[in-house]
Amino acid sequence: MRVAILAFASGAAASTSYLTWMADSFIWHGVKATSGYGEATLYDGYEAAYALTSNEMYVAWYRGQIDDVVVLNNGSIRDWRYDFYSLDNYRIGNNILWWYERTRQAKYRKAADVIRAQLDRHPRTPTGGFWHRQPNYPNQMWLDGIFMADSFYAKWTSLFDAKNKTAWDDIARQYDNIDAHTRNHTSNLLVHGYDESKKAVWADPVTGAAPLVWSRAVGWYFMSLLEVIPLFPESHRGRERLIGYFTTLAEGLKRAQDEKSGGWWLIMSEPYPGAQGNYIESSASAMFAFGWLKGIRLGLLSVDEYAEPAQKAYNGLVEQFMKINDDDTLNWEGTVQVGSLSSNATYQYYTSVPLTENDHRGAGSFMLASYEWERRK
Ligand SMILES: *[C@@H]1O[C@H](CO)[C@@H](O)[C@H](O)[C@H]1NC(C)=O
Ligand SMILES: *[C@@H]1O[C@H](CO)[C@@H](O)[C@H](O)[C@H]1NC(C)=O
Ligand SMILES: *[C@@H]1O[C@H](CO)[C@@H](O)[C@H](O)[C@H]1NC(C)=O
Ligand SMILES: *[C@@H]1O[C@H](CO)[C@@H](O)[C@H](O)[C@H]1NC(C)=O
Repeated sequence: MRVAILAFASGAAASTSYLTWMADSFIWHGVKATSGYGEATLYDGYEAAYALTSNEMYVAWYRGQIDDVVVLNNGSIRDWRYDFYSLDNYRIGNNILWWYERTRQAKYRKAADVIRAQLDRHPRTPTGGFWHRQPNYPNQMWLDGIFMADSFYAKWTSLFDAKNKTAWDDIARQYDNIDAHTRNHTSNLLVHGYDESKKAVWADPVTGAAPLVWSRAVGWYFMSLLEVIPLFPESHRGRERLIGYFTTLAEGLKRAQDEKSGGWWLIMSEPYPGAQGNYIESSASAMFAFGWLKGIRLGLLSVDEYAEPAQKAYNGLVEQFMKINDDDTLNWEGTVQVGSLSSNATYQYYTSVPLTENDHRGAGSFMLASYEWERRK
């Protein structure tokens, strides 16, 4: 297996598919299989690699990461905690549904239903938004949580409960809450989250909003909109609202794109772009490049306005964050380890978090951006 993959990697270098080259590199280095959202994001990249190439090797490898490791034969999810309500843990549900759609095997449906049932018990804010986590973050909605839970909620609903208007209303409400409480209508960028009870140390006493725009959280939200818009029923009015959230954010990102690098700052709110300690962060930059490219493909963004900045963003990713190792594998650099509203949410906090190499959230997002890029060619 290893020898075959290495040969494959060298071939990829010649034809410069960065998607398959990155996919092959992670297979070569090995990926510890978990049901965490980082791995889930990387696996999204493998779904893209398969969509681009139809190479069954990717499916075989991916199956080895999921079967008996995450999804057990009887449809249980390994180590699932039925009384722990954390949106981050639900993201793997999307990947499980990919397997269900591909195989129609009952175990995947059962496993997805475990997560769907958990949503029914998940604690909510007074206006119906899912808490980011119980007990840690009461009444808080974070942009990250939208990607973690609501893409899955929409996917599950589209497959098994598509005519349930209450469910679609509920899904749209999550995005409505985020837009109403976190978007700056001048910049069209969104702060990291808000506390509906206004009790968190960082919460604005009037609006409950967090103070800063942390780029990766915006990236998760941007990607989730693209996952959910195509699933939303045409007749539901929430669909138009979601498209509005997507296009206004796409526009805000255009103004926030760094002229020199084509990327985006870790902290995007004024006056921090270019400030000491701030830097162009690779996971968010990959998410935004991906979002623009996919937005163009879906007809949500105009080619005239976005193709050029998207090309600049994508080239910037390749030049700054993709590194070729001596053994001809690729590395992904420059992804921040974490950004959490369990902190004091200050500029000092966000910029004190270290960078990691070969981060699954960063590399997975780069693979998705590469998929869109290579599809266009
Ligand atoms: C599923 O299988 C696992 C491992 O064999 C076991 O621990 C678990 O209790 C089973 N769950 C159900 C619902 O049967
Ligand atoms: C419709 O969706 C809502 C919200 O998710 C859920 O509570 C309800 O049980 C669903 N109704 C049916 C008939 O499945
Ligand atoms: C909204 O964004 C503008 C432009 O970046 C900025 O000047 C303003 O301070 C922001 N408002 C808030 C409440 O952060
Ligand atoms: C916020 O937390 C950071 C460390 O995460 C610390 O360096 C900084 O002093 C704190 N700022 C305030 C105002 O508490």
